Amino acid sequence: MKWTTELRYKRYEDWTEQEVQDLKELNAQSPWHNHYHVEPATGLLNDPNGFSYFDGKWILFYQNFPFGAAHGLKQWVQLESNDLVTFKETGLKILPDTPLDSHGAYSGSALQVADQLFLFYTGNVRDEYWVRHPKQIGALLHRDGTLEKIDQVLIEQPSDATDHFRDPQIFQLEEDYYAIVGGQDLDQKGFVRLYKAENKDIRNWVKVGDLDFANDRTAYMMECPNLVFIDQQPVLLYCPQGLDKEIFDYQNIYPNLYKIGQSFDRTTAQMVDVGPLMQLDYGFETYATQGFNAPDGTAYAISWMGLPDVSYPSDQYEHQGCMSLVKKLSLRDGKLYQEPVESIKNLRQGQEDWADRLETNNSYELELSIPAQEDASLVLFANPAKEGLQIQIDRQAGVLTVDRSGLGNRFDLEHGETRSLDLPEGDTKLRIFVDQSTFEIFINDGEFVLSGRAFPGQDQTGCYQTKGQVTGHYYPLANHGR
Ligand code: FRU
Repeated sequence: MKWTTELRYKRYEDWTEQEVQDLKELNAQSPWHNHYHVEPATGLLNDPNGFSYFDGKWILFYQNFPFGAAHGLKQWVQLESNDLVTFKETGLKILPDTPLDSHGAYSGSALQVADQLFLFYTGNVRDEYWVRHPKQIGALLHRDGTLEKIDQVLIEQPSDATDHFRDPQIFQLEEDYYAIVGGQDLDQKGFVRLYKAENKDIRNWVKVGDLDFANDRTAYMMECPNLVFIDQQPVLLYCPQGLDKEIFDYQNIYPNLYKIGQSFDRTTAQMVDVGPLMQLDYGFETYATQGFNAPDGTAYAISWMGLPDVSYPSDQYEHQGCMSLVKKLSLRDGKLYQEPVESIKNLRQGQEDWADRLETNNSYELELSIPAQEDASLVLFANPAKEGLQIQIDRQAGVLTVDRSGLGNRFDLEHGETRSLDLPEGDTKLRIFVDQSTFEIFINDGEFVLSGRAFPGQDQTGCYQTKGQVTGHYYPLANHGR
Protein backbone atom coordinates (compact mmCIF):
# COMPACT_ATOMS: atom_id res chain seq x y z
CA MET A 1 0.00 0.00 0.00
CA LYS A 2 1.29 3.45 -0.83
CA TRP A 3 0.37 5.60 2.13
CA THR A 4 -0.42 9.03 0.74
CA THR A 5 -1.47 11.80 3.13
CA GLU A 6 -4.97 11.48 1.75
CA LEU A 7 -5.17 7.79 2.60
CA ARG A 8 -3.62 8.25 6.00
CA TYR A 9 -6.22 10.87 6.89
CA LYS A 10 -9.20 9.25 5.23
CA ARG A 11 -12.06 9.42 7.75
CA TYR A 12 -12.70 6.17 9.62
CA GLU A 13 -16.28 5.96 8.33
CA ASP A 14 -15.05 6.09 4.73
CA TRP A 15 -13.20 2.76 4.96
CA THR A 16 -15.46 0.05 3.61
CA GLU A 17 -16.20 -3.21 5.39
CA GLN A 18 -14.47 -5.02 2.56
CA GLU A 19 -11.31 -2.94 3.00
CA VAL A 20 -11.29 -3.69 6.72
CA GLN A 21 -11.89 -7.39 6.10
CA ASP A 22 -9.03 -7.52 3.58
CA LEU A 23 -6.76 -5.77 6.06
CA LYS A 24 -7.61 -8.28 8.80
CA GLU A 25 -6.83 -11.15 6.47
CA LEU A 26 -3.52 -9.63 5.45
CA ASN A 27 -2.61 -8.85 9.09
CA ALA A 28 -3.37 -12.46 10.04
CA GLN A 29 -0.86 -13.79 7.50
CA SER A 30 2.10 -12.31 9.36
CA PRO A 31 4.28 -15.05 10.88
CA TRP A 32 5.52 -12.62 13.54
CA HIS A 33 2.57 -12.09 15.87
CA ASN A 34 3.69 -12.09 19.46
CA HIS A 35 2.21 -14.48 22.01
CA TYR A 36 2.39 -12.35 25.14
CA HIS A 37 3.34 -8.82 24.09
CA VAL A 38 0.50 -6.40 23.33
CA GLU A 39 -0.04 -5.83 19.63
CA PRO A 40 -2.61 -3.80 17.71
CA ALA A 41 -5.82 -5.55 16.68
CA THR A 42 -5.12 -4.11 13.23
CA GLY A 43 -2.66 -1.67 11.66
CA LEU A 44 0.00 0.21 13.58
CA LEU A 45 0.55 0.51 17.32
CA ASN A 46 2.68 3.30 18.74
CA ASP A 47 2.78 5.00 22.13
CA PRO A 48 1.33 3.59 25.34
CA ASN A 49 -1.34 6.00 26.57
CA GLY A 50 -3.42 6.42 29.72
CA PHE A 51 -1.52 3.79 31.73
CA SER A 52 -3.31 3.88 35.08
CA TYR A 53 -5.27 2.07 37.76
CA PHE A 54 -9.03 2.53 37.94
CA ASP A 55 -11.98 0.66 39.39
CA GLY A 56 -9.90 -2.29 40.51
CA LYS A 57 -8.13 -2.80 37.19
CA TRP A 58 -5.00 -1.77 35.35
CA ILE A 59 -5.84 0.37 32.34
CA LEU A 60 -3.72 0.86 29.26
CA PHE A 61 -4.50 2.34 25.87
CA TYR A 62 -2.38 2.21 22.75
CA GLN A 63 -2.01 4.80 20.00
CA ASN A 64 -3.29 3.21 16.85
CA PHE A 65 -3.75 3.78 13.17
CA PRO A 66 -6.10 0.88 12.48
CA PHE A 67 -5.90 0.69 8.66
CA GLY A 68 -2.28 -0.25 8.01
CA ALA A 69 1.39 0.08 8.87
CA ALA A 70 1.46 3.88 8.64
CA HIS A 71 1.22 6.89 10.92
CA GLY A 72 -2.19 8.24 9.97
CA LEU A 73 -5.33 9.32 11.75
CA LYS A 74 -4.74 8.08 15.29
CA GLN A 75 -7.10 6.77 17.95
CA TRP A 76 -6.67 5.38 21.46
CA VAL A 77 -7.62 1.72 22.01
CA GLN A 78 -8.32 0.55 25.56
CA LEU A 79 -7.00 -2.58 27.26
CA GLU A 80 -7.56 -3.85 30.77
CA SER A 81 -5.54 -6.15 32.97
CA ASN A 82 -5.77 -7.76 36.38
CA ASP A 83 -2.09 -8.64 36.66
CA LEU A 84 -0.12 -6.24 34.40
CA VAL A 85 0.77 -9.20 32.20
CA THR A 86 -2.35 -10.19 30.30
CA PHE A 87 -4.08 -7.25 28.67
CA LYS A 88 -7.41 -7.59 26.86
CA GLU A 89 -9.12 -5.07 24.62
CA THR A 90 -12.39 -3.76 26.05
CA GLY A 91 -13.77 -2.29 22.83
CA LEU A 92 -13.55 1.26 24.17
CA LYS A 93 -11.71 3.79 22.00
CA ILE A 94 -11.06 7.49 21.88
CA LEU A 95 -11.91 8.25 18.28
CA PRO A 96 -10.68 11.31 16.38
CA ASP A 97 -14.25 12.42 15.87
CA THR A 98 -14.68 15.97 17.20
CA PRO A 99 -13.45 19.39 16.02
CA LEU A 100 -10.94 19.30 18.92
CA ASP A 101 -9.24 16.04 17.82
CA SER A 102 -10.21 15.87 14.14
CA HIS A 103 -6.74 14.82 12.91
CA GLY A 104 -5.83 12.43 15.68
CA ALA A 105 -6.34 11.59 19.32
CA TYR A 106 -2.66 11.93 20.12
CA SER A 107 -0.79 10.72 23.18
CA GLY A 108 -1.60 11.41 26.78
CA SER A 109 -2.10 9.96 30.22
CA ALA A 110 -4.76 9.12 32.80
CA LEU A 111 -5.45 9.51 36.49
CA GLN A 112 -8.43 8.84 38.69
CA VAL A 113 -10.01 12.18 39.62
CA ALA A 114 -12.99 11.99 41.97
CA ASP A 115 -15.01 9.03 40.75
CA GLN A 116 -13.83 9.00 37.14
CA LEU A 117 -10.73 8.25 35.18
CA PHE A 118 -9.58 11.52 33.64
CA LEU A 119 -7.87 11.02 30.28
CA PHE A 120 -5.65 13.94 29.31
CA TYR A 121 -4.53 13.91 25.68
CA THR A 122 -3.57 15.96 22.66
CA GLY A 123 -6.15 16.74 20.04
CA ASN A 124 -4.30 17.04 16.78
CA VAL A 125 -6.19 19.48 14.57
CA ARG A 126 -5.27 20.61 11.08
CA ASP A 127 -6.95 23.56 9.39
CA GLU A 128 -7.81 23.94 5.70
CA TYR A 129 -4.20 24.99 4.96
CA TRP A 130 -2.97 21.87 6.76
CA VAL A 131 -1.56 23.99 9.58
CA ARG A 132 -1.48 22.07 12.84
CA HIS A 133 -3.21 23.34 15.99
CA PRO A 134 -2.38 21.12 18.97
CA LYS A 135 -5.00 21.17 21.72
CA GLN A 136 -4.60 19.63 25.15
CA ILE A 137 -8.01 18.17 25.82
CA GLY A 138 -9.66 15.57 28.03
CA ALA A 139 -12.26 12.91 28.49
CA LEU A 140 -13.85 11.23 31.48
CA LEU A 141 -14.23 7.49 31.72
CA HIS A 142 -17.11 6.67 34.05
CA ARG A 143 -17.40 3.52 36.12
CA ASP A 144 -20.17 2.24 33.88
CA GLY A 145 -17.66 2.18 31.02
CA THR A 146 -18.99 5.23 29.17
CA LEU A 147 -16.66 7.86 27.85
CA GLU A 148 -17.48 11.56 27.93
CA LYS A 149 -15.27 13.98 26.03
CA ILE A 150 -14.82 17.36 27.68
CA ASP A 151 -15.99 19.89 25.14
CA GLN A 152 -13.35 22.54 25.80
CA VAL A 153 -9.62 23.03 25.28
CA LEU A 154 -7.85 22.55 28.60
CA ILE A 155 -4.48 23.98 27.52
CA GLU A 156 -4.11 26.01 24.32
CA GLN A 157 -0.91 26.20 22.29
CA PRO A 158 1.21 28.83 24.10
CA SER A 159 2.38 31.85 22.11
CA ASP A 160 6.02 30.90 22.77
CA ALA A 161 5.66 27.40 21.31
CA THR A 162 5.40 26.08 17.77
CA ASP A 163 2.73 23.59 16.74
CA HIS A 164 4.87 20.87 18.36
CA PHE A 165 3.21 20.92 21.75
CA ARG A 166 1.74 17.66 22.99
CA ASP A 167 1.61 14.55 25.17
CA PRO A 168 0.27 15.82 28.53
CA GLN A 169 1.14 13.65 31.51
CA ILE A 170 -0.94 14.16 34.63
CA PHE A 171 0.25 13.28 38.12
CA GLN A 172 -0.79 14.00 41.66
CA LEU A 173 1.32 15.48 44.45
CA GLU A 174 -0.57 15.30 47.73
CA GLU A 175 -3.98 16.76 46.91
CA ASP A 176 -2.95 18.69 43.81
CA TYR A 177 -2.91 17.71 40.14
CA TYR A 178 0.00 18.64 37.92
CA ALA A 179 0.74 17.98 34.28
CA ILE A 180 3.78 18.26 32.05
CA VAL A 181 3.58 18.83 28.31
CA GLY A 182 6.38 18.41 25.75
CA GLY A 183 7.01 21.18 23.26
CA GLN A 184 9.22 23.16 20.96
CA ASP A 185 9.97 26.85 21.48
CA LEU A 186 10.24 29.49 18.77
CA ASP A 187 14.01 28.86 18.52
CA GLN A 188 13.08 25.30 17.69
CA LYS A 189 14.42 23.92 20.94
CA GLY A 190 12.58 21.32 22.97
CA PHE A 191 11.18 22.07 26.42
CA VAL A 192 8.90 20.51 29.01
CA ARG A 193 6.30 22.75 30.69
CA LEU A 194 4.71 22.22 34.07
CA TYR A 195 1.06 23.12 34.75
CA LYS A 196 -1.06 22.92 37.88
CA ALA A 197 -4.82 22.42 38.12
CA GLU A 198 -6.07 25.54 39.88
CA ASN A 199 -8.13 24.53 42.93
CA LYS A 200 -7.80 20.89 41.81
CA ASP A 201 -10.04 21.68 38.85
CA ILE A 202 -8.93 19.62 35.86
CA ARG A 203 -10.68 22.12 33.59
CA ASN A 204 -8.46 24.96 34.77
CA TRP A 205 -4.73 24.54 34.16
CA VAL A 206 -2.27 27.27 35.09
CA LYS A 207 1.35 27.39 33.95
CA VAL A 208 3.91 26.91 36.71
CA GLY A 209 6.99 27.21 34.49
CA ASP A 210 9.32 25.28 32.25
CA LEU A 211 10.60 22.19 33.94
CA ASP A 212 14.17 22.79 35.03
CA PHE A 213 15.88 19.47 34.41
CA ALA A 214 19.24 20.90 33.24
CA ASN A 215 17.93 20.92 29.68
CA ASP A 216 20.96 21.08 27.36
CA ARG A 217 18.74 22.69 24.70
CA THR A 218 20.12 20.73 21.77
CA ALA A 219 16.96 18.69 21.06
CA TYR A 220 14.34 20.22 18.77
CA MET A 221 11.41 18.49 20.47
CA MET A 222 10.70 16.60 23.69
CA GLU A 223 8.15 13.90 23.02
CA CYS A 224 6.29 11.99 25.70
CA PRO A 225 7.79 13.46 28.89
CA ASN A 226 6.82 11.58 32.07
CA LEU A 227 7.61 12.33 35.68
CA VAL A 228 7.45 9.49 38.13
CA PHE A 229 8.40 9.59 41.78
CA ILE A 230 10.46 6.86 43.36
CA ASP A 231 11.37 7.14 47.05
CA GLN A 232 10.31 10.82 46.77
CA GLN A 233 12.82 11.43 43.98
CA PRO A 234 11.60 12.71 40.61
CA VAL A 235 12.58 10.69 37.55
CA LEU A 236 11.97 12.27 34.16
CA LEU A 237 11.54 9.82 31.27
CA TYR A 238 11.50 11.53 27.89
CA CYS A 239 12.28 11.37 24.19
CA PRO A 240 14.46 14.26 23.05
CA GLN A 241 14.41 14.38 19.24
CA GLY A 242 17.51 15.70 17.52
CA LEU A 243 19.64 15.59 20.68
CA ASP A 244 23.29 16.33 19.94
CA LYS A 245 25.30 13.08 19.96
CA GLU A 246 28.17 14.92 21.65
CA ILE A 247 25.88 15.42 24.62
CA PHE A 248 24.71 11.82 24.64
CA ASP A 249 25.84 9.01 22.42
CA TYR A 250 22.91 7.07 20.94
CA GLN A 251 22.33 4.99 17.84
CA ASN A 252 18.56 4.83 17.49
CA ILE A 253 16.93 7.44 15.30
CA TYR A 254 15.48 9.01 18.48
CA PRO A 255 16.52 8.05 21.99
CA ASN A 256 14.38 7.45 25.07
CA LEU A 257 16.36 8.74 28.06
CA TYR A 258 15.96 9.63 31.70
CA LYS A 259 17.26 11.92 34.44
CA ILE A 260 16.94 11.58 38.20
CA GLY A 261 16.60 14.54 40.56
CA GLN A 262 17.20 14.57 44.30
CA SER A 263 13.90 16.33 44.92
CA PHE A 264 11.21 18.25 43.10
CA ASP A 265 10.24 21.87 43.77
CA ARG A 266 6.68 22.08 42.51
CA THR A 267 6.48 25.85 42.99
CA THR A 268 9.45 26.59 40.71
CA ALA A 269 9.17 23.50 38.46
CA GLN A 270 12.69 22.51 39.39
CA MET A 271 14.16 19.05 39.56
CA VAL A 272 16.76 19.76 42.24
CA ASP A 273 20.31 18.36 41.81
CA VAL A 274 19.63 16.61 38.54
CA GLY A 275 21.89 13.70 37.72
CA PRO A 276 23.36 12.82 34.32
CA LEU A 277 21.41 11.90 31.21
CA MET A 278 20.97 8.13 31.14
CA GLN A 279 19.89 5.49 28.64
CA LEU A 280 16.58 3.85 29.51
CA ASP A 281 17.13 0.86 27.25
CA TYR A 282 20.33 -0.05 25.43
CA GLY A 283 18.52 -1.79 22.61
CA PHE A 284 17.03 -0.96 19.26
CA GLU A 285 13.59 0.50 19.60
CA THR A 286 12.28 1.46 23.02
CA TYR A 287 10.35 4.70 22.65
CA ALA A 288 7.61 6.83 24.19
CA THR A 289 7.88 4.99 27.52
CA GLN A 290 5.01 5.86 29.80
CA GLY A 291 5.50 5.66 33.56
CA PHE A 292 3.07 6.25 36.37
CA ASN A 293 2.79 5.87 40.11
CA ALA A 294 0.14 3.34 41.11
CA PRO A 295 -2.13 4.14 44.08
CA ASP A 296 0.31 2.31 46.41
CA GLY A 297 3.16 4.49 45.11
CA THR A 298 4.91 1.82 43.03
CA ALA A 299 6.25 3.18 39.74
CA TYR A 300 5.55 1.17 36.60
CA ALA A 301 6.49 1.80 32.99
CA ILE A 302 5.69 0.36 29.59
CA SER A 303 7.27 1.24 26.26
CA TRP A 304 6.40 1.23 22.60
CA MET A 305 8.79 -1.21 20.92
CA GLY A 306 9.02 0.73 17.71
CA LEU A 307 10.30 4.05 16.45
CA PRO A 308 8.87 6.86 14.40
CA ASP A 309 10.19 7.00 10.82
CA VAL A 310 11.39 3.38 10.79
CA SER A 311 9.94 0.62 8.58
CA TYR A 312 9.57 -2.94 9.86
CA PRO A 313 9.42 -6.28 8.03
CA SER A 314 5.85 -6.77 9.27
CA ASP A 315 4.80 -3.71 7.25
CA GLN A 316 4.32 -6.02 4.28
CA TYR A 317 1.34 -7.40 6.21
CA GLU A 318 0.22 -3.83 7.09
CA HIS A 319 0.93 -4.60 10.74
CA GLN A 320 3.44 -2.78 12.95
CA GLY A 321 4.49 -2.25 16.56
CA CYS A 322 4.10 -3.87 19.95
CA MET A 323 4.43 -2.96 23.62
CA SER A 324 7.23 -3.98 25.96
CA LEU A 325 6.43 -5.92 29.09
CA VAL A 326 5.39 -3.79 32.06
CA LYS A 327 8.46 -2.84 34.03
CA LYS A 328 8.55 -2.12 37.74
CA LEU A 329 10.88 0.79 38.49
CA SER A 330 13.16 1.32 41.47
CA LEU A 331 16.23 3.39 42.31
CA ARG A 332 19.48 1.83 43.45
CA ASP A 333 22.81 3.64 43.68
CA GLY A 334 21.52 6.58 41.69
CA LYS A 335 20.37 4.39 38.82
CA LEU A 336 16.99 3.35 37.57
CA TYR A 337 16.35 -0.39 37.78
CA GLN A 338 13.63 -1.96 35.63
CA GLU A 339 12.29 -5.42 36.26
CA PRO A 340 9.36 -7.34 34.84
CA VAL A 341 6.48 -7.56 37.29
CA GLU A 342 6.37 -10.64 39.53
CA SER A 343 3.20 -11.99 37.90
CA ILE A 344 5.06 -12.51 34.61
CA LYS A 345 6.00 -15.86 36.18
CA ASN A 346 2.39 -16.94 35.72
CA LEU A 347 3.12 -17.28 32.01
CA ARG A 348 5.59 -20.09 32.68
CA GLN A 349 4.47 -23.45 31.35
CA GLY A 350 7.25 -25.55 32.82
CA GLN A 351 10.91 -25.39 33.71
CA GLU A 352 13.94 -27.08 32.25
CA ASP A 353 17.65 -26.70 32.79
CA TRP A 354 19.36 -24.50 30.26
CA ALA A 355 20.59 -26.50 27.26
CA ASP A 356 20.87 -25.93 23.53
CA ARG A 357 17.73 -26.73 21.62
CA LEU A 358 17.09 -26.82 17.94
CA GLU A 359 13.37 -26.26 18.21
CA THR A 360 11.54 -23.80 20.38
CA ASN A 361 8.32 -22.04 19.49
CA ASN A 362 10.17 -18.72 19.94
CA SER A 363 8.14 -17.87 23.06
CA TYR A 364 10.15 -18.51 26.19
CA GLU A 365 12.06 -17.04 29.07
CA LEU A 366 15.67 -17.72 30.05
CA GLU A 367 17.13 -17.08 33.45
CA LEU A 368 20.89 -17.45 33.14
CA SER A 369 24.04 -16.67 35.02
CA ILE A 370 27.53 -16.29 33.67
CA PRO A 371 30.55 -16.32 36.00
CA ALA A 372 32.65 -13.17 36.34
CA GLN A 373 35.62 -14.34 34.29
CA GLU A 374 33.72 -16.15 31.52
CA ASP A 375 33.18 -14.94 28.00
CA ALA A 376 29.87 -16.20 26.67
CA SER A 377 27.91 -16.29 23.48
CA LEU A 378 24.29 -17.22 22.82
CA VAL A 379 22.24 -17.34 19.67
CA LEU A 380 18.45 -16.95 19.87
CA PHE A 381 16.05 -17.18 16.94
CA ALA A 382 18.77 -19.46 15.56
CA ASN A 383 18.71 -21.62 12.45
CA PRO A 384 20.56 -24.98 12.41
CA ALA A 385 23.67 -23.12 11.19
CA LYS A 386 23.43 -21.12 14.43
CA GLU A 387 22.69 -17.83 12.75
CA GLY A 388 20.23 -15.57 14.49
CA LEU A 389 20.19 -13.01 17.25
CA GLN A 390 23.60 -13.09 18.86
CA ILE A 391 24.31 -12.09 22.46
CA GLN A 392 27.97 -11.89 23.36
CA ILE A 393 29.80 -11.16 26.56
CA ASP A 394 33.41 -10.14 26.18
CA ARG A 395 35.06 -9.91 29.60
CA GLN A 396 38.27 -8.33 28.40
CA ALA A 397 36.39 -5.45 26.81
CA GLY A 398 33.81 -5.55 29.62
CA VAL A 399 31.02 -5.37 27.07
CA LEU A 400 27.76 -7.15 26.27
CA THR A 401 26.80 -6.93 22.59
CA VAL A 402 23.62 -7.90 20.78
CA ASP A 403 23.80 -8.34 17.04
CA ARG A 404 20.69 -8.87 14.93
CA SER A 405 22.42 -9.13 11.54
CA GLY A 406 21.98 -12.94 11.52
CA LEU A 407 18.19 -12.74 11.36
CA GLY A 408 16.30 -13.75 8.25
CA ASN A 409 14.61 -10.38 7.81
CA ARG A 410 16.97 -7.49 8.36
CA PHE A 411 15.77 -3.90 8.61
CA ASP A 412 16.72 -0.34 9.67
CA LEU A 413 20.29 -1.04 8.60
CA GLU A 414 20.93 2.68 8.58
CA HIS A 415 20.99 2.77 12.38
CA GLY A 416 23.18 -0.28 12.80
CA GLU A 417 22.52 -3.89 13.69
CA THR A 418 24.43 -4.08 16.96
CA ARG A 419 23.93 -2.49 20.34
CA SER A 420 26.15 -2.86 23.38
CA LEU A 421 26.62 -1.78 26.96
CA ASP A 422 29.44 -1.75 29.48
CA LEU A 423 29.09 -4.54 31.99
CA PRO A 424 30.13 -4.09 35.59
CA GLU A 425 32.65 -6.58 36.93
CA GLY A 426 31.36 -9.70 38.62
CA ASP A 427 28.91 -12.42 37.66
CA THR A 428 26.31 -11.47 35.08
CA LYS A 429 22.67 -12.37 35.44
CA LEU A 430 20.51 -12.40 32.33
CA ARG A 431 16.76 -12.68 32.23
CA ILE A 432 15.68 -12.92 28.62
CA PHE A 433 12.17 -12.87 27.18
CA VAL A 434 11.74 -14.11 23.62
CA ASP A 435 8.42 -13.74 21.83
CA GLN A 436 8.00 -14.48 18.09
CA SER A 437 9.51 -11.17 16.91
CA THR A 438 10.49 -9.46 20.16
CA PHE A 439 13.21 -9.86 22.76
CA GLU A 440 13.84 -8.15 26.08
CA ILE A 441 17.05 -8.73 28.02
CA PHE A 442 17.11 -7.69 31.68
CA ILE A 443 20.66 -7.65 33.01
CA ASN A 444 21.61 -7.96 36.69
CA ASP A 445 18.08 -7.75 38.06
CA GLY A 446 17.14 -4.78 35.91
CA GLU A 447 20.29 -2.68 36.20
CA PHE A 448 20.27 -2.55 32.39
CA VAL A 449 17.68 -3.44 29.78
CA LEU A 450 18.42 -4.16 26.14
CA SER A 451 15.41 -4.92 24.00
CA GLY A 452 14.31 -4.91 20.40
CA ARG A 453 12.37 -6.48 17.57
CA ALA A 454 13.78 -9.44 15.63
CA PHE A 455 12.12 -10.89 12.55
CA PRO A 456 13.34 -14.46 12.14
CA GLY A 457 13.25 -16.55 9.01
CA GLN A 458 11.10 -19.69 8.99
CA ASP A 459 13.88 -21.98 10.19
CA GLN A 460 15.03 -19.66 13.00
CA THR A 461 13.50 -21.33 16.02
CA GLY A 462 16.51 -22.59 17.96
CA CYS A 463 18.60 -21.32 20.83
CA TYR A 464 22.22 -22.22 21.36
CA GLN A 465 25.15 -21.45 23.55
CA THR A 466 28.25 -21.16 21.39
CA LYS A 467 30.72 -20.16 24.08
CA GLY A 468 31.10 -20.07 27.86
CA GLN A 469 29.86 -21.65 31.07
CA VAL A 470 26.24 -20.69 31.16
CA THR A 471 23.85 -22.12 33.74
CA GLY A 472 20.20 -21.49 34.42
CA HIS A 473 16.70 -22.28 33.29
CA TYR A 474 14.48 -22.32 30.25
CA TYR A 475 10.74 -21.68 30.66
CA PRO A 476 8.31 -22.08 27.78
CA LEU A 477 5.74 -19.28 28.03
CA ALA A 478 2.00 -19.26 27.42
CA ASN A 479 0.33 -17.77 24.40
CA HIS A 480 -1.99 -14.97 25.43
CA GLY A 481 -2.20 -13.44 21.99
CA ARG A 482 -4.75 -13.76 19.27
C1 FRU B 1 5.46 9.84 19.76
C2 FRU B 1 4.37 10.67 19.12
C3 FRU B 1 3.76 11.63 20.11
C4 FRU B 1 2.39 11.88 19.51
C5 FRU B 1 2.04 10.53 18.96
C6 FRU B 1 1.20 10.55 17.71
O1 FRU B 1 5.66 8.63 19.14
O2 FRU B 1 4.88 11.35 18.01
O3 FRU B 1 4.52 12.79 20.34
O4 FRU B 1 1.47 12.33 20.45
O5 FRU B 1 3.26 9.87 18.69
O6 FRU B 1 0.83 9.27 17.34
